[in-house]
Amino acid sequence: MTVEDLPQLRRLATDPDSLGPDWGGYGDPGHFDRRLGEDGLLSDHDGMLAIDVGGRCVGQVSWRAVRHGGSHHCWGIGVSVFPEHRGCGHGWRAQRLLVDYLFATTPVHRIEAKTRADNAAEQQALAKLGFTLEGTLRGAQFKDGEWRDTMLFSLLRTDR
Ligand SMILES: CC(C)(COP(=O)(O)OP(=O)(O)OC[C@H]1O[C@@H](n2cnc3c(N)ncnc32)[C@H](O)[C@@H]1OP(=O)(O)O)[C@@H](O)C(=O)NCCC(=O)NCCS
Repeated sequence: MTVEDLPQLRRLATDPDSLGPDWGGYGDPGHFDRRLGEDGLLSDHDGMLAIDVGGRCVGQVSWRAVRHGGSHHCWGIGVSVFPEHRGCGHGWRAQRLLVDYLFATTPVHRIEAKTRADNAAEQQALAKLGFTLEGTLRGAQFKDGEWRDTMLFSLLRTDR
């Protein structure tokens, strides 16, 4: 991420359409400015990279450490493509590059991703990348005025 990407990034905190049904409500748009200044949005336990198409930030991929016990964490990944750039293949390609990057540069064994049960595009993208659907977290998230199911997917280093 660069300073030039900040106007796009701030949309994640201010524009409900930026994340569609996964938008979690208004947030502090200055958060991204501060993180970019502090650590470039890249730390040992989380990170965010721009999806760059021809020099334009069309979305973002992110990751954060998730622990399920034991001494090592796995990565939980997230992605969003801004509405005007969806359906062009950026989402699944960016996630493919992200999992390649994370497996190449960190020793994690597992990458997981969660998505809403009605998010067909993200489920299709994860399936293309070889992620396995592990199950449904019932009533796990409150969105659009209701408790909704979340689907949990994973990709192991040994799956590839
Ligand atoms: C989910 C998201 C990242 C997908 O990125 P995208 O660039 O729009 O999707 P892609 O063009 O890479 O398409 C991925 C697959 O989904 C399919 N797809 C795309 N849009 C779709 C839609 N609206 N309905 C059903 N399938 C769809 C594509 O056909 C493709 O599959 P295929 O190659 O087998 O044909 C994007 O739509 C987005 O940012 N949504 C809002 C945020 C979000 O849902 N994030 C992920 C969950 S937290």
